Amino acid sequence: MKSFWHKLNRSILALAPMAGITDSAMRQICREYGADVVYSEMASVSALYFKPEKTLALVKFNRKERPYVVQLFGNNPEHFAKAAQIITKSIKPDGIDINFGCPAKKVFSHGSGCALMPQKELARKIILAVCENTTLPVSIKIRAGLREMSALHFIENIKDLPFYAVMIHGRTYEGSFSGVVDFKIVEEIKKIIPQKIVLANGGITNPVQAAKILEDYPLLDGLGVARGVLGKPYLFSQIKEFLKKGKRTEYNFKKIKKIAIRHAELLYKNKKRFGMLEIRKHLVWYFKGFPGAAELRKKLVQVKSIGEIKKVLSSVK
Ligand SMILES: Cc1cc2nc3c(=O)[nH]c(=O)nc-3n(C[C@H](O)[C@H](O)[C@H](O)COP(=O)(O)O)c2cc1C
Repeated sequence: MKSFWHKLNRSILALAPMAGITDSAMRQICREYGADVVYSEMASVSALYFKPEKTLALVKFNRKERPYVVQLFGNNPEHFAKAAQIITKSIKPDGIDINFGCPAKKVFSHGSGCALMPQKELARKIILAVCENTTLPVSIKIRAGLREMSALHFIENIKDLPFYAVMIHGRTYEGSFSGVVDFKIVEEIKKIIPQKIVLANGGITNPVQAAKILEDYPLLDGLGVARGVLGKPYLFSQIKEFLKKGKRTEYNFKKIKKIAIRHAELLYKNKKRFGMLEIRKHLVWYFKGFPGAAELRKKLVQVKSIGEIKKVLSSVK
C-alpha cells in the first residue's frame, strides 16, 4: 500500500480532529511543534452536497499544514460521494477521513458519527462511496465500540475495503470522553489489518505516558492526540524528544508566551476580529496552572487584539 500515510516515520503523531478547535491556525501551530499529520474539524457531507461555500471555508488550509486530512461526517452515501469529489477538487488535502466515532447528540441523533458503527451495510457503502470518488487516501476514525458492536467486529466487516488508515478512540460510545481507554483492542485491530496504518487515541496527555503506550503496544503505528494539546501544542515535540532521548524540554512562561502570540497572530490572519474572540479560550489553556492564573484569566478572556494580548502577557512578573 502506498500513500502519504505509509511514508510517515514511526511513531506517527497525529493531531486528532476537534470541532471548534482544530482550525488552520491550530493545525499550523501543531505542525510547527511536531505533529506529523493534522485533521480538520469535522465537515458535514450534506452541507457540502447542498450548499458547499461555508463548509469549504471551514476546511481550507495553508500548505504548511501538509499532510492535512479533511474529516467528513454524515450518513448518506450519495452525499459522501459528492463531498469527496468536491473536497478532492476544491480543497486538495492529502487525505479524506470518515467520522464513525462522534457521540455528540446533534451528530449521533441524525444517525451519523458513532451511530454508524452498528450499521454494517451502510458503513461499507459510505466507505466505498468516498474511496470511489477521490484519488486521495481515505482513512476512518472509530471508537472501541458501541453497545454490542465492538471495534473488532466493525473492522472485520470492512477490512477488504481500500482505506489506508484508521484512528481508534479507545473508549466505547458508552465511555464517552472519560471512560477507560482500551489500547489492547487497538493493537488487536492492527493484527486484522496489518497493511493499514493504525493509530491509537484517547487520554494521551504527557510524553512518559505516550512512550509507555508505544512500548506496551509495539504494533501500533502511532498516536492521535486531542485534548492533551489544548494550550500545549508542544506536547508533540516533547513526545518525540522523549522517544528519542528519554528526556523532554520543559516549556516555561516565556516560551509559552511566544507560542501563544504566534497562535493569536495566525488566528488573526485567518479570521480577523472573530479570531480574537476564538483565541481567548486558547489563551486560558496556555496559561492554566501558572501562579496568578486566575487573575490572568480574567484579563485574557477580554482581549480584543494582538496588542492587548502582548500587553497583558508582558505585565506578568
Ligand atoms: C471539543 C472536541 C471536539 C471534537 N471533535 C471531533 C471531530 O470533529 N471529529 C472526531 O472524529 N472527533 C472529535 N473529537 C474527538 C477527539 O478527536 C478524540 O477522539 C477524543 O477527544 C479522545 O481523545 P483525547 O482523550 O486525546 O481528547 C472531539 C473532541 C473534543 C474534545
